[in-house]
Amino acid sequence: MNRNEPLVLGIESSCDETGVGIVRGTRMLANTVSSSMEEHVRFGGVIPEIAARAHLDAFVPTLDQALRTANVTLDEIDAIAVTSGPGLAGALMVGVSAAKALAVATGKPLYAINHLVAHVGVGVLEGTVLPEQFGALLVSGGHTEILRVGSLTEDVQLLGATIDDAAGEAFDKVARLLGLGYPGGPAISKAAVEGDRKAFRFPRGLSLPKFVGTAEKPGKHRHNFSFSGLKTSVARCVEHFEAAGEEVPVADIAASFQEAVVDVITSKAVRACQEHGLTTLLLGGGVAANRRLRELLAARCASAGIGLTVPPFELCTDNGGMVAALGAQLVAGGAEPSGLEFATDSSQPVTEILR
Ligand code: KG4
Ligand code: ZN
Repeated sequence: MNRNEPLVLGIESSCDETGVGIVRGTRMLANTVSSSMEEHVRFGGVIPEIAARAHLDAFVPTLDQALRTANVTLDEIDAIAVTSGPGLAGALMVGVSAAKALAVATGKPLYAINHLVAHVGVGVLEGTVLPEQFGALLVSGGHTEILRVGSLTEDVQLLGATIDDAAGEAFDKVARLLGLGYPGGPAISKAAVEGDRKAFRFPRGLSLPKFVGTAEKPGKHRHNFSFSGLKTSVARCVEHFEAAGEEVPVADIAASFQEAVVDVITSKAVRACQEHGLTTLLLGGGVAANRRLRELLAARCASAGIGLTVPPFELCTDNGGMVAALGAQLVAGGAEPSGLEFATDSSQPVTEILR
């Protein structure tokens, strides 16, 4: 096997995107995504059973397309990587079963990898030379986490996480409140363009310092997030306009809500890096597609002297390229394959990089 620049096929099926990516070393050759998002729109959220069935229909055509785009055959592939978790159980099962079948049919080694680590590991495709230790900010529909990464393949530690909703989930819920539809993230950021982000001052969860006497002490939750109070505050605001029979200022609320989320995420990520002496930060996850988040994080990292790596838009939301990218890092690092016995884990912790 080519451990220097391994040719790796990555399979992703944790939510509503069927993704197959092909990477050689740190170069992406194909990244084909088929989404069942349209089928979930009328329900206002992903329906697991529908997502799983859609993966079944989409897998083979998505694989064929990726192989054609990369201009490689299954025979030439060095290894197969697949998301084993976290995610929707039924959806994960389809990708993992497909990956195991491919591994058996081709005799290629199979790596069962963590979706969350893949989200931040996608940064290596940008040619980023990673330092000894770095921070990672993961913001997706299911997770909001600050990580300290000693090695993408061996050492990921959790510094902070949300204690209630994930950032993307907050976007999705608030979009529903504002009648903006699903998925909420893109809908809110679009509406926010026309709005005033200072129109309303919504709460920044868990961001007040703790005082012992007059001395400011770092609070227990200083690296953690909470978005449920923010969501309630937006709901009250909407109700207030409705009760008064006034038109709801959707754009202003969207912009102010987005600012509250982005403000708290960026300030906490920068503080965590500073406290842990991390001078490089990788951003990843679906919410990383948010323009205001990218803008404010870039500004705050720049003033704190932190180098920031932001994935291109198409690599922020779920895709197979990120799975292949992390798979290639594992193969190159000499990691043992997972075999065929592993199970999916819908709540696989971020510290378990490889099953
Ligand atoms: O990482 P991802 O594709 O799936 C999970 O692993 O959860 O993230 C999806 C989430 C959704 O909640 C979606 O609303 C959010 O990412 N999202 C955004 C934007 N684009 C997608 N949130 C804010 N602004 C965006 N532009
Ligand atoms: Zn994801």
